[in-house]
Amino acid sequence: MSAQLIDGRAIAEQIHAETAATIQQLKTQHRLTPGLAVILVGENPASVAYVGMKDKMCARLGIHSEKIHLPASTSQGELLNLVNDLNFRSDIHGILVQSPLPDQISEDVIFAAIDPTKDVDGFHPLNVGKLALGDPTSFVPCTPAGVHELLIRCGITVEGAHVVVLGRSRIVGRPVSLILSQKARHANATVTVCHSRSRNLAAICRSADILIAAIGVPRFVKADMVRDGAVVIDVGINRVDGKLVGDVDFDAVKDKAGWITPVPGGVGPMTIAMLMHNTVLAAKRRHGLA
Ligand code: GUN
Repeated sequence: MSAQLIDGRAIAEQIHAETAATIQQLKTQHRLTPGLAVILVGENPASVAYVGMKDKMCARLGIHSEKIHLPASTSQGELLNLVNDLNFRSDIHGILVQSPLPDQISEDVIFAAIDPTKDVDGFHPLNVGKLALGDPTSFVPCTPAGVHELLIRCGITVEGAHVVVLGRSRIVGRPVSLILSQKARHANATVTVCHSRSRNLAAICRSADILIAAIGVPRFVKADMVRDGAVVIDVGINRVDGKLVGDVDFDAVKDKAGWITPVPGGVGPMTIAMLMHNTVLAAKRRHGLA
């Protein structure tokens, strides 16, 4: 193995320590306890696991959390009513509705109903628009923010780099491309967004200084798609024969890349770290402290 391993667990722990210190300060100096509501609809096993992890991390850091588990048969109207109630609660600073939602509920409608100042996922159209405009008062979606933070904390130069993003999803591909192409410190990258209709995919990937894989196809990125010494960030979480694998063929690519994230233990832990960070930020903003 020649690549340096990016230890997402260790970096997430650093962020958790910083967040926990901020929370203690808010409690002692401002009598303020950040509060997060996490809504799960149905029994998607991955979602059940993620929501459980988010809830546990809140408890560990001192965030008040409410896990609300609704049946898969919940109507859009019922979920809207719940979101609306949470929008008006002064003890709840962040609201997260776990995706995916059952077919009878439109994610677009639900995300747009969340108070944008409580939208710790950054999926509300107002926050997406602010991110596109470079307005720093937006909430930045957690997984892409986690990818950015990994690059920064590993000392990887983003400025001027060619970043190739595989995938254009609302949750990862699109926002990570916006973050890294911003006119800002630790950004200013040249970003190419590729997707299922892109021609010459392998050649484009080979031109990347930083390759971000978020397409949801197990082991899609092979060694011949990676330039010697490139940084490879694997956002994929796929279950194959009971084993978690990413969107990168790790065993083949690790000998080619300069840096690489493992799955699990790479980007995954960063998502929760940034969610905790965003929740504290929402509480601080509500009280004029940020
Ligand atoms: N499903 C997968 N990732 C996420 C996320 O970051 N937020 C929400 N709400 N749902 C998800």
